[in-house]
Order: sequence, then C-alpha cells, then structure tokens
Amino acid sequence: MRSLIDILDLSVEEIDKLIATANDIIANPDDYAEKCKRKKLATLFFEPSTRTRLSFEAAMIELGGSVIGFSAANNSSAAKGESVSDTAKTISCYADIIAMRHPKEGAPLVASRAASIPVINAGDGGHNHPTQTLADLLTIYREKCGFNNLTIGLCGDLKFGRTVHSLISAMSRYSGIKFVLISPEELKLPSYVKKDVLEKNDIQFEQTTDLEGAMPKLDILYMTRVQRERFFNEEDYLRLKDSYILEPNKLKNAKKDLCIMHPLPRVNEISVAIDDDPRACYFKQVLNGKYMRMALILMLLEEAAK
Ligand code: NCD
Repeated sequence: MRSLIDILDLSVEEIDKLIATANDIIANPDDYAEKCKRKKLATLFFEPSTRTRLSFEAAMIELGGSVIGFSAANNSSAAKGESVSDTAKTISCYADIIAMRHPKEGAPLVASRAASIPVINAGDGGHNHPTQTLADLLTIYREKCGFNNLTIGLCGDLKFGRTVHSLISAMSRYSGIKFVLISPEELKLPSYVKKDVLEKNDIQFEQTTDLEGAMPKLDILYMTRVQRERFFNEEDYLRLKDSYILEPNKLKNAKKDLCIMHPLPRVNEISVAIDDDPRACYFKQVLNGKYMRMALILMLLEEAAK
C-alpha cells in the first residue's frame, strides 16, 4: 500500500505530476468536485493543527468525499493507552485514507505498516512534514517558474523545524541550489540532515547567525517559528524565541523578487507590516497547500485502487 511518510517517497517526476494536477484543479475546480465521491479521509491528529488538518478536510470535501477523525490525542483511545498500530488497523475498517500528525518521530511510519489503507504523514515530531513541503514546492514553482538555480535562506529553528528538514530533502534533488542556514547556535540544522542530505548530494550551504548579512543573495527566505513544544525547558525557549524578527527595514537590501515564505503559524517572526509587500508569499502557501493535498489524495487513492 502506497503511503507518503517522507517527501523522498515521491520521485521528482511524481512531484511534477502533482504540481500539474494542482494547477489543473486551480484552473478547473468543477472537474474534480466528484472525484472522491463516497471516499472517506480520516484525520488523526495527536498534536495541535489549524492549517494542515483543515486543509486536508477542505481538500477532501472539495473532491466530493467526506471526513472523519479527531483533533487531539485526549479525544481518542490513545488516552487509554491504545497503540498507533491498533489505531491504524481500526481506522482502516472505516476510512479509505489517513492523514496523521503525531508528536513522536516515526509514528506515521509505524501506522503505515499496520494500516491497509494509505497513510499520509501530516507532521511527526521534529522530524518531517512532507505535505507542508508540497505546499512549499507549488509556491516556489508558481513564484519562480521552476526549481533550479535558487539560493534559499532558511531562518529560525532549524533544529526542531520539521518543515525545514523536508524542504531541504526535496530541494536537494534540483540543480544549482544553495542553502543559507540562518539560526542561533543552539538551533542549528541537525547533523544527520547535514550529512545525509546536504553533504551526500554535494549541495552548497553556509551557516550563519546573520539574517541581514545573508539577505542580498537570497531568492527565497523561509522564516520559521521557534518550536516551543520541543524544548526541554521554558527558559531556553524564552531566550531564543525572538532571535529573528523580519521587519520592513530588514528588507532594504533584499532582491526585488525575493519570495518570503513561512509555514505558519507565525508568532513574532514576521511583522504584519510585511503582509502587504508583494514579496510576502505565506498566505499563498496556505492556499497552495490545499490544492497539493487534493492532488496527493487523488494520486494515493488511484494507486490504492490498482
Ligand atoms: C508547521 C508544523 O506543524 O510543523 N505548521 C504547519 O503545519 N504549517 C510549522 C510550525 O508549527 O511551526
């Protein structure tokens, strides 16, 4: 059974296909309004979410399907001690496809091994978040007309930020990509991502603490929130939370066609004064996420039917 656990589960050609489908859905939404008639998506969210869960639900509804699920671990039998595998086997009796978010790294993978329906990883701990990456990729594709020869600044919590890890993996397959990794010392990219993705694929990257110094060379600036829920103590969080705040004056040396991204939710990382700047793309990412999730649900359900 085909699932999506890691963004690299999709080939470059499949990502191109998902982008083509998403663009076709944007142009011809009525053609898709009944594609998932009588199909059910189960959203199993053991961690908070606004965009990911509701965009999955909106995606399934716009495909003519329906949705069941829960939005907090304490609303499910996990609170009674049920294992992820048993939950996945149970839901396989009710639904056609699962989107699962869990605080433990690897939980959606475990679920996919037990389930008899496709499982989509909607975020596992500080590890991966492949469907946010699909939203990011459609945004980059539409803003930059492709994926090659881009200098991408990733700023904020690169240690715990799962969206960053998945985006780096996805972009490492294109040519002429350079990363500028901007973070406080304590929140640097984990060494496993550096070794297994960047160094293994010979991708150029530099690490810095200086956002403004990096700004002039960036084609994309991907801001992230400091991931409070993954910290061991509140003091460290409070010290690091406002390390980077993007304000209009910090953009004075930025490229005219810079694309400013953020997976959201933002706390303080981007001033609302930037929202009206034409370079602000973070609410476009939200919308693109729904279309890519529609394309993904279609692809996985088609494969499951084979
Ligand atoms: C992200 C996540 O859950 O990892 N949110 C999202 O799904 N768009 C980013 C975050 O919570 O900071």
